[in-house]
Amino acid sequence: MAISRRGFFDAFGAATRGPALSGAALSARGLEDHFAAAWSQTPAMPGARQGQGRGQRPALPPGVEEIKINSNENPLGPGKVALDAILGKFPEASRYPFNSTPNEGALTETIAAKYKVKAENVVLAVGSQEILKNAVRAFVSPSRALVAGAPTFENCTGFSRKMKFPVTEIKVDSAFKLNVDDMIATVRGAGLVFFNNPNNPTATVHGIKVVTDFVERVRRISPDTVILIDEAYHDYVTDPSYESAVPLAMSTPNVFVARTFSKAYGMAGMRIGYAVGQADTVKPLARLRMPYGVSTFGVAAAIASLNDPQHIADERARNTEVRAFTVKALTDLGCKPTDSQANFIFVDIGRPAKEFRDACAKQGIMVGRDFPPFENSHCRISIGTMAEMQKATQVFRDVLRPVAPVANAGKSGGGF
Ligand SMILES: Cc1ncc(COP(=O)(O)O)c(C=O)c1O
Repeated sequence: MAISRRGFFDAFGAATRGPALSGAALSARGLEDHFAAAWSQTPAMPGARQGQGRGQRPALPPGVEEIKINSNENPLGPGKVALDAILGKFPEASRYPFNSTPNEGALTETIAAKYKVKAENVVLAVGSQEILKNAVRAFVSPSRALVAGAPTFENCTGFSRKMKFPVTEIKVDSAFKLNVDDMIATVRGAGLVFFNNPNNPTATVHGIKVVTDFVERVRRISPDTVILIDEAYHDYVTDPSYESAVPLAMSTPNVFVARTFSKAYGMAGMRIGYAVGQADTVKPLARLRMPYGVSTFGVAAAIASLNDPQHIADERARNTEVRAFTVKALTDLGCKPTDSQANFIFVDIGRPAKEFRDACAKQGIMVGRDFPPFENSHCRISIGTMAEMQKATQVFRDVLRPVAPVANAGKSGGGF
């Protein structure tokens, strides 16, 4: 049936604002089901990972819904103002992001205003991964190594290896935090330090005093080394010792912070990230930017959501509650989670992650992949909605029961 352009927007707008749905987020989830159905009919991509690539889903018994708690996404998607902004941009899909209203310059200005810095201190990117990758291009070389934690978010380490650049990986400490002393011991002459705070996958955080001290010590030993502080999960932190390192980056040469709209802002599919730091520090990242990389839709949604801070406060509160529920359920099963300050937990399940992951997947629960060197003991589980985590923890109980008898409840997970 033919539908006019006007009719399409009226129908689409009505579908997302209708009183039968409890808000834009629910209608977005309805669309997600629709797209998931189409997606499951597409062929597998070469090299796709289970649960993350097309066509790799295990067949589920009828009536069992898949719960995706494997990629640290916000299960509710963007807030209503952001969704409305996206929908309102369809007529401007013909415009480049510098020609749209608002344009990408307005997003840079809005981010700069949030931190009380200048536009020259902000570099937009196609997700913060563009920042991470370009940081390797700009600062790492065959003679200037990358220093990173292990395990940590692998974008910088993976890309450095691909480029055949030297990589020094430092295992996290006994509390699963980035091992600052050991990182400092290897930093002399390095091109880049990747400091992920909170750290994915271990979910732990360092307070601002530790981060400030780390930066000062690195700068004393190796002043030309650039420090990238990745705060992708900033909005989920509840530890009072934590603060953003943006002010530190603004007062210190060769330090910058990477942020993303993919996590608490619920826009992983919109692909927007950015870097903040002194103009001379972030200039090389601006030079390497993908031209017009941030879409007209992403610009509008990001500006709208930056003007809606209550949505982020609500999302943090929601995540904190569901995270506490999940931590308790797993602790009661005898498992041992780290101190999570993010929208995922890293938990000692006392067996290989693959074994647990495959057993959960058979019941529709998709949990995280392997994270060496802890792939034989730990699994990363993202925090979904409360309803999703209630279902997921029931499955965890079922999957873990044979080797985690009730008698173990409340004890360390290390015993099984
Ligand atoms: C620590 C960290 N940094 C960056 C990213 C990438 O996010 P983006 O979607 O902005 O590229 C992720 C994604 O999971 C992450 O965990």
